[in-house]
Amino acid sequence: MHGRGRMEVGGVIAGSRVALRAWEPEDNRSYWAWLSDPEVLKMFDASVDQIPLAFLEQRYRERAFSPDFRAYGVVLLPQELIGWARWTRVREFGVYDVGLLIGRPDLWGKGYGREALDLLLALLFDGQAAHKVQATTFEFNRRSLRLFQSAGFQVEGESRDDVYVDGRFWKTIRLGLLRGEYAGRRGEARGGGGCG
Ligand SMILES: CC(C)(COP(=O)(O)OP(=O)(O)OC[C@H]1O[C@@H](n2cnc3c(N)ncnc32)[C@H](O)[C@@H]1OP(=O)(O)O)[C@@H](O)C(=O)NCCC(=O)NCCS
Repeated sequence: MHGRGRMEVGGVIAGSRVALRAWEPEDNRSYWAWLSDPEVLKMFDASVDQIPLAFLEQRYRERAFSPDFRAYGVVLLPQELIGWARWTRVREFGVYDVGLLIGRPDLWGKGYGREALDLLLALLFDGQAAHKVQATTFEFNRRSLRLFQSAGFQVEGESRDDVYVDGRFWKTIRLGLLRGEYAGRRGEARGGGGCG
């Protein structure tokens, strides 16, 4: 059981509209289809023009059984797979990197990403006793920046002229959220909302 009404049962953690469940090998085809849309790929990995299905499948096989990696399907309840989420442990002492994708642009901006990120953070801070969660995004990806910052992440670093997209260079921006900040965020929510 995770805080604030979230439940983890058989690898699934559910919020009100979205759940995370274990990523299955057959989900890679959906992943590939989402990343075949240039608008989606640009936000996700601006350094390549396309990502072959075989590459995604191989990368999945390489990481699937690692204790330092976990991938989830983002499910719009009751059961529609709409995205992908992952954590990677980058330091033994509890530092994790996360990635998140809502696969269809027509589903962006509806709050699903925020709900999925909150579930991922609950899995990491509650389930894995994470000390820090970090993420990387591109300067032009305003929605992603807003997503992480509104969840409490702080900008920790910028890599200038790191990607070339739409005729110009952009920064890569790294953000991080510490355990104490996450706990503080929950404290604020409790004080303001009052459902325990
Ligand atoms: C980034 C992504 C996961 C966000 O998920 P989403 O469901 O679209 O986002 P949400 O609707 O939950 O909104 C998240 C925040 O962005 C804000 N937002 C929504 N649309 C926005 C826009 N066009 N510009 C700026 N901010 C925007 C929301 O208001 C919200 O902030 P708030 O909580 O302060 O209100 C999703 O858009 C996506 O998968 N994009 C492509 C892949 C990607 O960029 N991944 C992140 C890098 S790993």
